[in-house]
Amino acid sequence: MTRFTRTLHFEQAPPLAIPLAFFLTAPVALGCAGVVLAASGAAVLGTHWLPLTIGLAHLLTLGFLGMVMLGALYQLTAVLSGNPVPAVRLAHGVHVLFTLGVATLCWGIARSEPGLVFASISALFLSVVGFSVPVAVALLRAPTQSQTTRGMRLALASFVVAVAIGLWMAHGHAGMRFPGVRSLWIQVHASLALIGWVGGLISSVSWQVLPMFYMSKRIDPGLQRALRLSIGLLITLPTAVLLADYGWGVARTSAVPARIAAVATLPALAIVWVWHPLATLRALRARRRKRRDASALFWQTGLACAPLVAATGVAAWCWPDPRLMLLFGWLALFGWAGMIVHGMLTRIVPFLVWFHRFAPVAGTQPTPSARALLPNAWAERSFALHSATLVIGCIAILAGADLPARVLGLALVGVALALAYMLVRVSVRHPEAAPAD
Ligand code: HEM
Repeated sequence: MTRFTRTLHFEQAPPLAIPLAFFLTAPVALGCAGVVLAASGAAVLGTHWLPLTIGLAHLLTLGFLGMVMLGALYQLTAVLSGNPVPAVRLAHGVHVLFTLGVATLCWGIARSEPGLVFASISALFLSVVGFSVPVAVALLRAPTQSQTTRGMRLALASFVVAVAIGLWMAHGHAGMRFPGVRSLWIQVHASLALIGWVGGLISSVSWQVLPMFYMSKRIDPGLQRALRLSIGLLITLPTAVLLADYGWGVARTSAVPARIAAVATLPALAIVWVWHPLATLRALRARRRKRRDASALFWQTGLACAPLVAATGVAAWCWPDPRLMLLFGWLALFGWAGMIVHGMLTRIVPFLVWFHRFAPVAGTQPTPSARALLPNAWAERSFALHSATLVIGCIAILAGADLPARVLGLALVGVALALAYMLVRVSVRHPEAAPAD
């Protein structure tokens, strides 16, 4: 047992079926995104304002990334903070409602069907409340007040505020009034969701998971503190700007509120997409155990994409070329976060299956190791597919042509199938059927 695993509380972990249900739904959403792209071609890649593009973006942000992150938080809150999530069986209802909510939101916005968007608002509201209240209670009462626990709290707070803004904006697609200046609301919603929620969770979990799984060096505590402060600023100032816009319409006549919101985002952007990835890449390079491991490759490639995300994000804000905004979204969702989430799944799912099913019988019968449940060659194939799809996506966006867009759709379906195959093959393993290592 290392000094890192000693601080973990595996006895608090929720039943395996809970994280697995979320994880197994994620490739379905990815596959749907691929089908939509393959069927629509370049029509999706005109500008990010198109309803179909917004629907597609949320298949990735909520259906793929969100599904994995919600499932992982049930597990991580218990194991990393030492406090189990209360009423954890509620998670099954959350999973069903969240899946329905994401499907109806994406379909409703893409096809401009107000009834469906209304249904999605109710389902998403109920599922996010059912998820965030118990998880917040567990994180607030956690006996372990580590940097990771505090980071997870801020990530959750960012998620809740981003969802509230998202649901408010969704009324604009359900035949009602949009709450304020559209570009400002999207800017605050997307930065809270991408930087505060996705970035906050990836960073704070990396501090504990990377030393544990890859024997990497510990991350500078100064970076951890800076991240917390910057996400705190990201949540408070831009949200205050939105409230002022909603109450007094301050952004309708002046560009200053949008600039204040953008400047308040910059510190968190620099930390999540530049400082954290560079520091983490250095820590991974200096790791003690350097055996061939596809999940580490996923992490390294995702982290290497992060500075490109920052650069395209700033470029998209300065130059009004619609391709820059699409490229930014693609690199952020499928390059940076998508790579890391995909890599984590290849590591966490075998570990959970081993922990719940094989660890209790270890010593009484031959059991495979957690790593043997998912052969590295499968994960390497998945990594190659994901990387090729990332490149095809960049080409399709820059070219804006029909053929590369359709090829990208098919490639996305391929990534989804490869991921689903791995997850299903691992999750059906039981001790009786397991050959000895
Ligand atoms: C319940 C949760 C959410 C809802 C209801 C929601 C809703 C929306 C809506 C309605 C828009 C478009 C606004 C418009 O038409 O101008 C939008 C844009 C956007 N959202 Fe969300 N959102 C949610 C969660 C998220 C999350 C978790 C992320 C990222 C991780 C995210 C990222 C984005 C991005 C990047 C855009 C801009 C997309 C584009 O311009 O094509 N959203 N969201």
